[in-house]
Amino acid sequence: MTAVLTAGECVAPLARVSGSDLRVPLVQGGDRTYVNFDCAASAPALSQVTDRIEALLPTYSSVHRGAGYASRVSTDCYEKARESVARFVGAGDEQVVVFTRNTTDSLNLLAGCVPGSTVVLDIEHHANLLPWKNSRVVRAADTLAETVRLLVAELCSRPSALLAVTGASNVTGEVLPIAALAEVAHRCGARILVDAAQLAPHRRIDLEAWGVDYLAFSGHKLYAPFGAGVLVGRRDWLDDAEPYLAGGGAVRNVTVESAQWVSAPAPEWASAPARHEAGTPNVLGAAALAAACDALSDLDFDRVAEHEAVLRSRILDGLESVDGLEFLRLWSDAPDTVGIVTFTIDGFEPGEIAAYLSAEHGIGVRDGRFCAHPLLERLGRPDGAVRVSLGLGSCSEDVDRLVDAVRTLVGGNRTWIYAKEGGQWNPVPERRFLLDAQR
Ligand code: ALA
Repeated sequence: MTAVLTAGECVAPLARVSGSDLRVPLVQGGDRTYVNFDCAASAPALSQVTDRIEALLPTYSSVHRGAGYASRVSTDCYEKARESVARFVGAGDEQVVVFTRNTTDSLNLLAGCVPGSTVVLDIEHHANLLPWKNSRVVRAADTLAETVRLLVAELCSRPSALLAVTGASNVTGEVLPIAALAEVAHRCGARILVDAAQLAPHRRIDLEAWGVDYLAFSGHKLYAPFGAGVLVGRRDWLDDAEPYLAGGGAVRNVTVESAQWVSAPAPEWASAPARHEAGTPNVLGAAALAAACDALSDLDFDRVAEHEAVLRSRILDGLESVDGLEFLRLWSDAPDTVGIVTFTIDGFEPGEIAAYLSAEHGIGVRDGRFCAHPLLERLGRPDGAVRVSLGLGSCSEDVDRLVDAVRTLVGGNRTWIYAKEGGQWNPVPERRFLLDAQR
């Protein structure tokens, strides 16, 4: 990739997202355009996504359940959404796309299908730690190279069915070497699952080229906040397992006897993906996710990576000399990092910093332990940190506002008082009103 942008110049948003002109109240009075630096938690909808939803609403109807014209259109749209997702991740012919609610849902689904034990790292988000009932947790080392070596040793030490790893850390943004991990998992007789919740919005995914067996990600982090996620993967385990949800759509034929689960024959379950998609499908969520996949592919991931790399460098440059500020990272040899910067500042609690950025500057970040408690513990930050996460709608002006605000705080020039109540930091007094979202 040739770098066209440099950290010093003005960088515009890369795509149009909803909420880009949202004005939010400030505690000291007045209002400002909102800076959304919490895209790793939930990214705002891309305009291509909201346009697609708007266009579909008139024909919104039941999926797989109606002969009416609108039902036919909705069913077609739902099934075509699978094709968009499969193209987006470079799925092979043997891989199926199952629509779920989100990454957590996808990982819980797969956990019910794995015929053996799962190996995970201790740096994972809880969604990729807790679902695996039969798991072995490997403690990551100080370098990525050594961490891979430890994983190989554990995978090969006893029979392992699956290696479940994140594509990019939701805390540090560091990217893992997925193709290399797929190779070692296979060498040790295991399959590999990638939790791509934080990778899919930032980097091109190629399941076939990387040799990845299973992949999960969420629409709400991929600029498609309409309640859908996906599990993409090899059919055999999915077809051998009990359905994730028992109900309509997941079954071919039911008798009173099979419904009582006591005597043969058992219900005739459908094959994947229907087997794991009982209930009325979320056609708008699937269509939104497909629209986001199409839009991101059109945008070109080299441009996405360059945009966030330049903005990320601008944050690092702007904050590195701030007294007492430390960035969180795991590995000195991580080859790539997505648009995430996480830090702590001596003398300030993470929640206090986040409350100040919001109240006085209209900047939204996330603070806390990011559903990755073991990782925060090993990074020596059991009380949490502040995470700034960029998206396609981010620009250099947003970064400059953040840097100025942090410098003002550390310089002792905040204008308001903050207090912790019930575990949460708030400005005192709180003068802002909440917008009535129903208006
Ligand atoms: N998993 C999401 C995050 O890291 C919610 O913020």
